[in-house]
Amino acid sequence: MKKYFKKITGELKEIIILAAEVSREANMPAYLVGGFLRDLILGVKNFDIDIAVEGSGIIFAQRLAKKLKSELRVHERFGTATLILDGLLKVDIATTRKEKYPCCACLPVVSCGLLEDDLMRRDFTINAMAVSIVRGDEQKLIDPFGGRDDLSAGRIRILHDLSFKDDPTRILRAIRFEQRFNFKIEPKTLFLLEDAVKNGLLDKVSPHRIRDELVLMLKEHDPLKQVKRLNNLCALSFISKKLKAGKSTYDLFKSIDKEILWFTKNFPAHRQLDTWLIYFTALLAPLAPGEIKKTTSRLGLRKGEEKRIISYCQSSRRLIQFLSKKGVLPSRIFFMLEPLSYETIILLKSASQNKYLKRYITDFLEIYNGMRLYVSGNDLHGLGVLPGPRYQKIFAKVLEAKLNGKVRTLQGELGLIRELIKITD
Ligand code: CTP
Repeated sequence: MKKYFKKITGELKEIIILAAEVSREANMPAYLVGGFLRDLILGVKNFDIDIAVEGSGIIFAQRLAKKLKSELRVHERFGTATLILDGLLKVDIATTRKEKYPCCACLPVVSCGLLEDDLMRRDFTINAMAVSIVRGDEQKLIDPFGGRDDLSAGRIRILHDLSFKDDPTRILRAIRFEQRFNFKIEPKTLFLLEDAVKNGLLDKVSPHRIRDELVLMLKEHDPLKQVKRLNNLCALSFISKKLKAGKSTYDLFKSIDKEILWFTKNFPAHRQLDTWLIYFTALLAPLAPGEIKKTTSRLGLRKGEEKRIISYCQSSRRLIQFLSKKGVLPSRIFFMLEPLSYETIILLKSASQNKYLKRYITDFLEIYNGMRLYVSGNDLHGLGVLPGPRYQKIFAKVLEAKLNGKVRTLQGELGLIRELIKITD
C-alpha cells in the first residue's frame, strides 16, 4: 500500500498526516476506507476522503477539525461527521459500526462495531477494504473479501447473498460502478441482482432513495451507458409504471451529450448546468403530462427541478414547431426563450435537428440574451414619464425594436421612447 500513499500529495496528504496525529493522540485506530481507498488503488482522483474510526468518529472529527481549522457538520444519530474544507475537498468521518436490516429495504439498525464489522456491512468487495492511516501501518491492506483482486479483475461483487435484499439501492449502485469503471458484475452477483429485480425489490425502496441513486447515475460521465444497462437489467417501471426507454431516448441522450459540450465550451461564464436534470427530463419526456407530475412529486424533486421538467414537457412541441420555421423575428425568439432555464433550452436544441432552430438558439445565447438597453429609468424620468408599470412596457418595446435591429444607438432608443410616449399620452 505504501506506493499508493506516495501518490497522495498536497492538501490531501496534509489532512491524512494530521488525521494520523489525531489517531495516535486520541488512541483511536483510524482507517482510510470506502470509495477513497478504492480510487486511490485505481489511481482515480477522489476528493472525498472516507475515514472510519474505532472509538468515536465524532470526537475524532472534532479534533481533526481543530487542527485543520475547518467547519464541522456532526450527525449525532449516525456517529458521523463531515469536515468542510475550502475548494473541492471533503472528509467524511464515521465510527466503525455494525448494521442489521430488520426487513427488506428498511433502514438498518446501527450499533458500534469493530473495523471488520464495518467492512462487512458494505456493498461491494471493492468498497470493503481499509488501510490504517498511521505511518508504518500503512503498508497493510485490510481486505477480508478479496476487493483488491476484484479491482484488478474489474469485478463488482457483493459480500453475501442477502445484500440486495437488505438494501436494494445496491442494485443501482452495482450498475453505476460497473459502468463507471468499465467493470463487469460477476455472475453470481448478477444472478442475485436479477432475482432481486424479478422479485420487485426496487419497488420497496423509498422514492427519495431511488431519486438520489438516479441522480448519481445521471451525474456519471456517460449517462447513456448507465441508462442502457439500467434499462436492460431492471427496466424502468420502478421509476414510473409506464416508463420505457428505447432508441429515441438513447438518440436524445447522445444529442444532449453534444449540446452540453457545446454549451460549456462556448459559454464558460454562464452558471453550471444541472446536466443530470437535462437527462432526467429526456427520460421522462415520453410520459403523459399527468404521469410526469405524479413521478416528480413522488420522487420528491425540488420545486425548481420539477418546474424545469414540466416546463419542457409542456412546451417543447409548440416551441420546436415555432422555432423550426425560417425568418422568425429575433424579438419573438427572445421572448420565447428568455423565460426558460438553460437546461430547457439545451434540451430543445438537442431534441430537434432543424437548422433554423439550432441557429435561433445559438443567436439567443450569443447575442439576444446579453443585449442591454442604453436607456435607463432616469432617461424615462427625464422625458417626463412617472415611475410605474408603464416603464416595463416601454422598455419591452424598445428592447423588441433593438433585437430586431430597428434601433441601435442611445439616440435611436430615446427617439423611439418619445414616439411611444406620444402614442400612449
Ligand atoms: N455504502 C454501502 N451501501 C450503500 C451506500 C454506501 O455499503 N448503499 C458504503 C460503501 O462502502 C461506500 C461507502 O459506504 O464505499 C461510501 O458511500 P458513498 O459515498 O455513497 O460511495 P463511494 O464508494 O464513495 O462512491 P462515489 O465514488 O460514487 O462517491
